[in-house]
Parts: sequence; structure tokens; C-alpha cells
Amino acid sequence: MTNMKSTFELDEEARRILIANDRGGYTVPTDGLYPYQWNWDSAFAAFGFASFDIDRAWLEFEWLFKGQWSNGMVPHILFHQVDPGYFPGPEIWGCGGQVPSSGISQPPVAASFMRKVFESDPVAGRRHLEVLFPRLMAWHGWFMDWRLDRGAVCVTHPWEAGRDNALDWDAAMAAMDPAGVGEYTRRDTSHVDASMRPTKYDYDRYIWLVQNGRRANWDEAEMLKTNPFRVADPTLTFTLLRANRDLKAMGRAIGADTARIDEWIGTLEEGAKTLWNPQIGAYDARDVHSGAFAGSLSNASFLCWFAGVDGEAMHPHLTRMLRDVPFAIPSLDPENPAFDSRRYWRGPTWAIMNALIGFGLEDAGLTEEADLLRQKTAALIAEHGFAEYFDPFDGTPAGGGSFTWTAAVWLGWASASAAPGVAGTGRRVAN
Ligand code: DGY
Repeated sequence: MTNMKSTFELDEEARRILIANDRGGYTVPTDGLYPYQWNWDSAFAAFGFASFDIDRAWLEFEWLFKGQWSNGMVPHILFHQVDPGYFPGPEIWGCGGQVPSSGISQPPVAASFMRKVFESDPVAGRRHLEVLFPRLMAWHGWFMDWRLDRGAVCVTHPWEAGRDNALDWDAAMAAMDPAGVGEYTRRDTSHVDASMRPTKYDYDRYIWLVQNGRRANWDEAEMLKTNPFRVADPTLTFTLLRANRDLKAMGRAIGADTARIDEWIGTLEEGAKTLWNPQIGAYDARDVHSGAFAGSLSNASFLCWFAGVDGEAMHPHLTRMLRDVPFAIPSLDPENPAFDSRRYWRGPTWAIMNALIGFGLEDAGLTEEADLLRQKTAALIAEHGFAEYFDPFDGTPAGGGSFTWTAAVWLGWASASAAPGVAGTGRRVAN
């Protein structure tokens, strides 16, 4: 045990991190490495703020939706204030819109956290929700219109899944030719050890895809024709499915029409089945162009319970991870030869993914597994701090420090003080 801080001290530290990363309406994931508002990070930030400042939680969502495009898309980064410490910035993305932004989206977890915030004070939340509900409908509708393949949701850039360098994209990335990408200077490796970040091979392709989107004027119909990268992804499919269930519950609470959401849920439930890879006996990413599965048992595979789809055949994998990996759940199965314990999404454990998986396990009635996962996550943070991600075997903190979403997950879920029924913890969410 390297750290003997009390729950009270850790709660205090987590609140200090959120407050320090607050830029007055939106929260940066961490100072330096990520100096803007990131989409799914900010939904976690709202969840964390809700444990001590509900108004601030709603403000975070409102700032996120300030950046919504007229086609409904909510970008993955909002460049509210230019910061030269980050690459690629707004001038590289070249997007229009009210707030300068990136041209891709990110896992739509906002509705799921908004429901938790709303239900912790429905009276105060109603006026916020009435404004944001149609915004969420438009965003989810954009995914349903543009990103489906056989009912599963596709990413058009690895950054869209949030799991930048996951094994899931390897074949699709290898099939790309990033010729003409030109010279550029990465900024991430000036903030964080390069061995913990994606490689130059990856970055050439990330940047080429940004340039390609820009050439298409970020027009979805055009990108559908020209983008070589299109992968049906468990992160997007499972989070959107769950988000639709939460959106429906919120819609009912304010008396909105939810018939369209029922259709979306049915489509996505069918789509989730197309991500089942019988060869590895797990939910997996599927390359739309080649039709091939990635062969990746990742932490996104375990989001099936969060989505409310059948997880029975995933259970033996869960048991193995919880038994064999001290700080489960790793972002890639340690038995996979590509496992790399400190390189971003190729092995490390992420507290945010554990929280989503944990909510799903609770909802499915797998309370023992949910408790064990929560305890492992709490020990990881208590002993190794509020890092971006962690080595799943020895807990070494990796990536950025003083990280918003790790602090938020501590406050809302992992900390012993996270009371059942308050901002989500322990609450069973009816599907
Ligand atoms: C980055 O810059 O590494 C981000 O993950 C992109 O969203």
C-alpha cells in the first residue's frame, strides 16, 4: 500500500481536481494534455459535480450542447478557447459550427449520466431536461441516420470510439494508406511518456483521416463514399443502446413522445448481435469494409450489461479477469499477444470503463461482481491516484494526472462515501 489516505481526504482531493479543471462552464479532462471540452469526458465530469454541485453538473451538459451541429452531431472536442498546447487544433479540423470543434463524435454517454443527475433532483432538473431532451434526440438520431451497419454503430475515426489505439482498429488501420499526410508536430508526447501513447504509425492515420474528413467538408454522405475507415464498434453500439433506454425514461418523465426511441432500441438490439464473434466467444469490433472481426476481447466487450443485452456468454471472461487481473478490467485481454500494460487502450485499466461496466452488472443483478469491480477500482485510485489510466497488474499510474473523469468516477461510484441513490451509485436503472 503506497497511499494511506482516508476516504474523506480522497473525496476532498477528487473535488479539488474537478474544481481545478473547471474552466467556467466546461471542464478540461486534464490541464496540458487535453485543454478543451471533450464530449464523453464532460458527461463524466457532470456526474462527478452532481455529487456536490448539481447546478454545475447541468452547466456542463449545457456547454456540451452549445457545440451541437445543425445536423444533430455533438462533436468530440469543443475548442472553446484556443490552446497551442494541443494538436490537432481547430485550424486542422477546419469545421464550421457555432463553437470551433472537431468533425467527429464520441461515445454518447451524456443521456445516461444526465438521467442520473436528473433523478437525483427531478424537480430542479426538469427545466434543464426540457431544453436538453430534444438536443439528445437530435444527436442520437444523427447516429441512427448516418452510422449504422446492420444495426450496429460504426466509428469513422478511432478517436470517435474514445479507445484511440485499441486492437479493434488494427486491420482497418493497416488497410489505409496515409500517403500525403505531410509533416506535423505531435503535442501529446511533450506532456506524456511516448511509450504510454499511440505510435507515429497510428498518428499518421489519425491525421490523414482528419484531412480526409475536411476534404469532404465533413459531409456525412460524402464521407460514407470516401472514408476507408468504418468499423462497427461495441463502445458506440452499447453506449448508444443504453443511452436510448435512459433517454426514453427521461422522455416519459417530462411527457415527451418516445415512440422513435423504441424503434432505435429495437434496431440496436439486433445490431448488438452482429458484434458477437463466435471465434473468440465475445463481443468484438467488426470491420465494415472487409467484414472481418478484430479478434479483440476488450473492456468495451464488457459493456453488454450496460446496454442491457445478453451477457451470459461473456460471464466466464468476466470471472477470469476479476480472478487473474489484480486491477481489472484491462482494456485488452492479457492473453492477447498484442497486450501492452501501459500503452493507452492496448492493456491499461480505465476507471471510467469500470464504472460503466459496474453500472451494467448492478442492473443485471450481478451484484457480487459489481461490488468486486468497484472495490478493485477504489483500491486502484486510493493507492495510485487520479491518473488517466493504470497498469492492470501493478497499478502504475499512466497518461495524464489529476484526471477529471477518474475523480468523477471516484466521487460518484468508487468512493465508500458514494451513497446509493445519490448521483447514481447503487441505483438500479429499469430498462
Ligand atoms: C487525443 O488527442 O489523444 C485524443 O484522444 C483525441 O480525442
